[in-house]
Amino acid sequence: MAFLMAIAGVFLVLYFCYALLRWNEIRYRKKGLPPGTMGWPVFGETSKFLEQGPDFMKKQAARYGSFFKSHIFGCPTVICMDAELNRYILMNESKGLVAGYPQSMLDILGNSNIAAVHGPAHKFLRGALLSLVSPQMLRDIVLPRIDRFMSSHLTDWDGKIINLQDHTKEVIFLSIMDQIASIDPRSKRADYFKTHFFKLVLGTLSLPINLPGTNYRNGVQARKNLLSMLRQILEERKASNESYKDMLSCLMKTDENKYKLNDDEILDLELTLMYSGYETVSTTSMMALKFLHDNPKALEEIRKEHLAIRERKKPNEPINFDELKSMKFTRAVILETSRLATVVNGVLRKTTHDVELNGYLIPKGWRIYVFTREINYDTSQYPDPLSFNPWRWMEKNLESHNYFFLFGGGTRLCPAKELGITEISTFLHYILTRYRWEEVGETKLEKFPRVQAPNGMHMRFSSY
Ligand code: HEM
Repeated sequence: MAFLMAIAGVFLVLYFCYALLRWNEIRYRKKGLPPGTMGWPVFGETSKFLEQGPDFMKKQAARYGSFFKSHIFGCPTVICMDAELNRYILMNESKGLVAGYPQSMLDILGNSNIAAVHGPAHKFLRGALLSLVSPQMLRDIVLPRIDRFMSSHLTDWDGKIINLQDHTKEVIFLSIMDQIASIDPRSKRADYFKTHFFKLVLGTLSLPINLPGTNYRNGVQARKNLLSMLRQILEERKASNESYKDMLSCLMKTDENKYKLNDDEILDLELTLMYSGYETVSTTSMMALKFLHDNPKALEEIRKEHLAIRERKKPNEPINFDELKSMKFTRAVILETSRLATVVNGVLRKTTHDVELNGYLIPKGWRIYVFTREINYDTSQYPDPLSFNPWRWMEKNLESHNYFFLFGGGTRLCPAKELGITEISTFLHYILTRYRWEEVGETKLEKFPRVQAPNGMHMRFSSY
């Protein structure tokens, strides 16, 4: 009897699960929606998406084509893997396809953050941001700061085993703090920023559950702490006669500035700069050293480029803008790293009204995941796509092909692409001209949803 009851119980549970799944499918079975599955109520297919990553996308695409519906991170979502359609979506924000990042991210980065606004507000903020990373700013203010920072910071790695993942994160974060507000990397303030910034990052990637101890609550608090410290710095600057050469001082020059921002907007923009440039740049820097370690011919070629620059200079002379521009192979290494490691898998959009796409009707408020990852491995763009081959970027101008989405596209194309490349190039310059490195053990790498080494990436450094 007990056995029969157990069997009946199992059947009941299975039936209940089946009914829930069917109910969720029927709920979203509107005419005109693309094919696909919606998974469980509320949770949708989030766990499959996170566990299987690109394989989940490939499986669904094999069944439903490269434009299919799903339900991830609490939102009904259309996943688009079609290169041409992705291009159309990125180019047509004004047709109701605006940035669509998760609520936790918007709450923590601020509702006037660049990712939260569109139309004229976005244009204005983007203008202010672009003025901070113009070629002239890079040449006169940003590059000298980055150079000074990298040259003095990457000094004592000889004979040490370094966890590159932790170190690239720390180096890039401190370098950004130096650029935006001249924060001394060895100061208490830098420690304060570091502690709260890492909490903020965790919060932006969490479910928006506002309870004590949740990553979300900690992230919101971290935002408050970071803003209050930034405000203190801003007030100190107003009260002092000292002149600074950093991004904050440029934003504060209201008389010369075409984009006049109030104090709150300045602080939010500083937070945006800290957040947006940190993970992409540190991950690319880490993976570049890994790929170069695994590909001795590429390492030899890039080292040649940097030693030639160093040989023409006095020992502690900084790199200048012309030398930076002459680092053609280095740029190729950075782009190839970004492609092969796929530092950015895709970007999120949201419909502001019902939008017709690819013959389907996407309802208002749905998310669109512009999944650009597959393009990085497309053999028609990149023959032998799984090999690390920086030379492919030297032979053809791949940066201007129609499906070059490593830095996004359209009105949201990364405004700080050249700043990112400058930071990584300078980091590589001081590593390549000072050190050799050997991997210690085998590094386990996770590729999705972000590139990371769960047990760290350990390298033994010695003087070159
Ligand atoms: C290797 C380095 C980098 C990569 C691969 C990268 C990639 C991207 C991508 C794919 C987007 C498009 C996002 C979207 O369409 O929603 C983007 C936008 C953006 N990036 Fe970067 N980025 C890099 C470096 C940086 C740096 C160093 C900063 C600033 C310090 C930065 C600031 C931004 C900002 C503010 C946006 C939003 C632009 C807008 O919404 O108009 N990025 N980036």
